[in-house]
Parts: sequence; C-alpha cells; structure tokens
Amino acid sequence: MNDGAAAAGRGLNGARVLVAGASGVLGGLAARELQARGAAVALAGRNPDRLADVAAGLGGAPVRGLDGYDLDGCGTLAAWAVRELGGLDGVLVTVGVAGFGRVEEVPNAAVEHLFTVNMLCPATVLRGAVGGIADGGFLAAVTGAIVDRPMLGTADYAAAKTALSCWLGVVAREGRAKRLRVFDFRLPHLDTGFSDRPVTGRPPTLPQGGDPAVAVRALVDRLEGAAPAAR
Ligand SMILES: NC(=O)c1ccc[n+]([C@@H]2O[C@H](COP(=O)([O-])OP(=O)(O)OC[C@H]3O[C@@H](n4cnc5c(N)ncnc54)[C@H](OP(=O)(O)O)[C@@H]3O)[C@@H](O)[C@H]2O)c1
Repeated sequence: MNDGAAAAGRGLNGARVLVAGASGVLGGLAARELQARGAAVALAGRNPDRLADVAAGLGGAPVRGLDGYDLDGCGTLAAWAVRELGGLDGVLVTVGVAGFGRVEEVPNAAVEHLFTVNMLCPATVLRGAVGGIADGGFLAAVTGAIVDRPMLGTADYAAAKTALSCWLGVVAREGRAKRLRVFDFRLPHLDTGFSDRPVTGRPPTLPQGGDPAVAVRALVDRLEGAAPAAR
C-alpha cells in the first residue's frame, strides 16, 4: 500500500498522519509539530471554526468533523484519511473531556459522556485504523498521568482513561505481527484550560500546569522514534 515512512524508522518526513481532536489545544499543537517535521496531516475535530483555523495555519490540510457520540463516524475516520492522504502511517487521538465530583454526585448522563468521549470515541477511531494503517505505523492516544495516580473526585474520568489505556495495551500486543507502534501518552496536568471545560462538576485546585508546547514536542519526539513506544 505504501512504504510506511514513519514506520520504518525514517522519522516523520513523508509520513501520513491523522490527528483526531485537532480543534483542541494539544491536537492543534501536535498537528503543527507533525507538519513541521515533514508529515502530511489530515485533521478531524468537533469545533468547525477552530478546526478551520488550525487547517489554515497549516496551509490547508484536509478536515473532517468529529462527534464523539457518532461512533460510526469515528470508525470511518481512518478510511477518510487514507483517501485524503493516499495512505496512513499514523493516528494520534487527542479527544477528551474532564469531569469532576464525588461518585454519588455525578449524573448518569455525565458518566455516559465521560466514557463515550474518553474511551469509546478514541478506541473507535483507532480500531477503524488498524486494517488500513501501514505496517510499522503508529496508533496513539492521550490518556493522562491520572491513569497512574487517580485523584479523588475524578473516578469516572480516571476510569474511562484507564479503560482506554488498557485497551491500547492489548492493541499493542495484537499489533505485533504488523509491527504497529502503540502509544499511551500519560501526560501530566498542562496549561491548556482542559480542566476548566468539564462536562460535570468543578475542578479541584490544581497546581500550575506544564507548558503544552514542550509536552507536545516530547510526544512527537516519541512518535518520530526518538524513544521507544510506551508498551
Ligand atoms: N491538558 C491537560 O492537563 C491534560 C493532561 C492529561 C491528558 N490530557 C488529555 O489530552 C487531550 C487533549 O486535551 P487538551 O488539553 O488539548 O484540551 P482541549 O483543548 O479541551 O481538547 C479536547 C479535545 O477533545 C474534543 N472533544 C471534546 N468533547 C468532544 C466530543 N463530544 N466529540 C468530539 N470531540 C470532542 C475537543 O473538541 P473541540 O475543541 O472541537 O470542542 C478537543 O479537540 C484530552 O484527551 C485530555 O484528556 C490533557
């Protein structure tokens, strides 16, 4: 299907990468960093204006809407990216939403939302890519340090991210024959405003977040092959 530029350890130059969540802060930064390192990117996101801004900043990358509740749409995103880019060497999913509150305070609708956006949507996007991605390509998602250190008042958010993390671990093992590289990016708290946009509750007092641009450069270093995959 293609020569799998990223996959074969030749870095990101010429790699074709889908970024799902490109309308968000980390997704937008990652799309820019990937392109700066020579990748061709296809962008998916929910907010059409922010998605268009990111695409325009990249000189007109292909864009497609992404609704976390439309799992059929999530599942066909990779096929769209293959058509747009002429193949696919990597997928990075940065979709996510926070939610806070003691477990007895969190409404069922918010629990469903947290699991849909943080687990089902990313897993469905990546599942849809397994068959079409080049041998040695990468599948990546941002989970969070919360997987290792769940905080009080985040049970459902942390559980959804942990479920995604577990899922990624199994995909990594299933993908060995295809030399798939699977990344579970457990990023620390970053200064993106993410925790101020929860679907439910209010965030606890958090320390100053880290620099998102620094974190994204390190993440893309990993994708580029400067460091081994997480699992
Ligand atoms: N910032 C942190 O401290 C931190 C730490 C660890 C992990 N993370 C993870 O990093 C990822 C990116 O976060 P960020 O900091 O860049 O925050 P962000 O700017 O709020 O990005 C969140 C992304 O998820 C998308 N999204 C939310 N609900 C959606 C839905 N129902 N359907 C489709 N897309 C939806 C947003 O789309 P729109 O913008 O178009 O609405 C946006 O692209 C998240 O998965 C988050 O859990 C963040």
